[in-house]
Amino acid sequence: MAIRERTNSRTLEHPSGDERYKAIDRTMKIFKYEKDALLEVLNSAQETFGYLTEELLVYISESLGVPMSQTYGVATFYHLFTFDPLGENNCIVCTGTACHVKGANQIVEAIASEFEVEEGGTTPDGVFSLTTARCLGSCGLAPVIVLNGEVKGKGTTETTVREVRAVLAASESTAEAG
Ligand code: FES
Repeated sequence: MAIRERTNSRTLEHPSGDERYKAIDRTMKIFKYEKDALLEVLNSAQETFGYLTEELLVYISESLGVPMSQTYGVATFYHLFTFDPLGENNCIVCTGTACHVKGANQIVEAIASEFEVEEGGTTPDGVFSLTTARCLGSCGLAPVIVLNGEVKGKGTTETTVREVRAVLAASESTAEAG
């Protein structure tokens, strides 16, 4: 079954309900679903998810109407794209205009300092990575972060650090149990 049901309005959301697809949809809308926007859309997908997956490539191919081979070709040609998750846990902080105004940069700094990770980097043990994105398509929730795939909005430096700490503690206890 096609991931995106074809309609003239192109307003359907991704059936998974995953909020992160909104950022990709937003980029495609800005570029009016032009095939030439492929690179920009892939970039948006990588920023939002932290890395590319086959499902993302299929979704983008179907939405833009470009062959999967072309999408895959572009995604593998440019070194800026990766198919590997950055860390076991990852946090993407939106630093687009709306989020910037609401203190996104302070959140980035707080997480970087608290968890000793560089922006765009992963901790040496591979447990946690921190990246930023330009706009995750949920500006009304600014400042927005995506923590292990879950979109969270209207946080502060304190609540975000707390949430990251909780996620890391949970993953540590899962690792110990395993
Ligand atoms: S600027 Fe952050 S979601 Fe749009």
